[in-house]
Amino acid sequence: MIYLDNAATTFPKPPQVLRAMTGVMERFGANPGRGGHRLALQAGRVVEACREAAAALLGTSPERIIFTRCCTESLNLAILGFVRPGDEVVCSHGEHNAVMRPLARLVAEQSVAVKVLQPGEDGVLSAETLRQALTPRTRLVVLCHASNVTGVVQPMADLGAVCREKGVPLLVDAAQSAGVLEVSLDALNADMVAAPGHKGLLGPHGTGLLALREGIAPAPLMVGGTGSMSESILQPDILPDRYESGTLNLPGIAGLLAGISHLRRHHREIVQREHALNERLRRQLGQLPGVMLLGDEHAPRVAVTSIVPRQGDAGALGDALDRSGVAVRAGLHCAPAIHAWLGTLQSGAVRFSPGMYTTEEEVDGVCALVERLTRHS
Ligand code: ALA
Repeated sequence: MIYLDNAATTFPKPPQVLRAMTGVMERFGANPGRGGHRLALQAGRVVEACREAAAALLGTSPERIIFTRCCTESLNLAILGFVRPGDEVVCSHGEHNAVMRPLARLVAEQSVAVKVLQPGEDGVLSAETLRQALTPRTRLVVLCHASNVTGVVQPMADLGAVCREKGVPLLVDAAQSAGVLEVSLDALNADMVAAPGHKGLLGPHGTGLLALREGIAPAPLMVGGTGSMSESILQPDILPDRYESGTLNLPGIAGLLAGISHLRRHHREIVQREHALNERLRRQLGQLPGVMLLGDEHAPRVAVTSIVPRQGDAGALGDALDRSGVAVRAGLHCAPAIHAWLGTLQSGAVRFSPGMYTTEEEVDGVCALVERLTRHS
């Protein structure tokens, strides 16, 4: 199988990730932060090492790194925990349902108002558009850093500077950018950054992160046992305990630590390789008469390329590719807002996302296959 669905989750993972996961489970699969015996302490040290690695990447102190199950959970925590009844939230055309659905819930249940920013023709948001949308009622700006459909990257530092200027906190959805682009709070002028562990950070499924700037304190999504202050029935305020009730995903976090460590050593070559593969893919797919390439040619982008067949539907092309041994993601990619903006809400699209283990031969073979499958359209 040729795997071109790395935007959904990177696969395969570096072998060290698998070894780290099985290693902790074989040697000290105890409950981190629960109990003082040496196995629990050893497990706890792995968790703290991962927290420190994530803190260095996201530019905050380790206790302000919250482990979650996925980027969606991080976004839910940040949005549902931070926005209050009657507030206004600004987001963009590029948001995933991980943002749009929590916002829709707040609109329905808490009279929250949501403004959706529209980009220029190239899919890029302007600082001026954001500035004009902000009002004294704006509680939060939530923006997707890189689209999971077009790959287009937003000028987040500039957008964040506007938020700073207006005193409105910025939450960045770094689902497609963490591990690829600079995503630290300071670099993006952000107050919260949500990231999956299992995509660009090369960790396993079931891992996600939320980085909080000092002074930003959303309400927890879940309360319960934290291994600390057990005498109180109230959720502790200390960090990260306030947000981490329940047993942590030790094997997942061990794998994530190995993924981040691998990335630290090979970041430049991985990103350059994925970019070159994606440009190779775009160049060839862009020449096919039977398909339309999505996303502006000149906008900055991560390694994601989507196409729409000029005839037939995207789902059928995705299925045909699967039957031929190619894994892509077809449909709306849980991001109907950007498909509406692109005019592809009805057709959907077929998304190709190469990863660090993809080869040039695979890219060329897949493009030739797409040419054959769309030739008569
Ligand atoms: N949000 C992920 C994707 O774009 C799963 O496929």
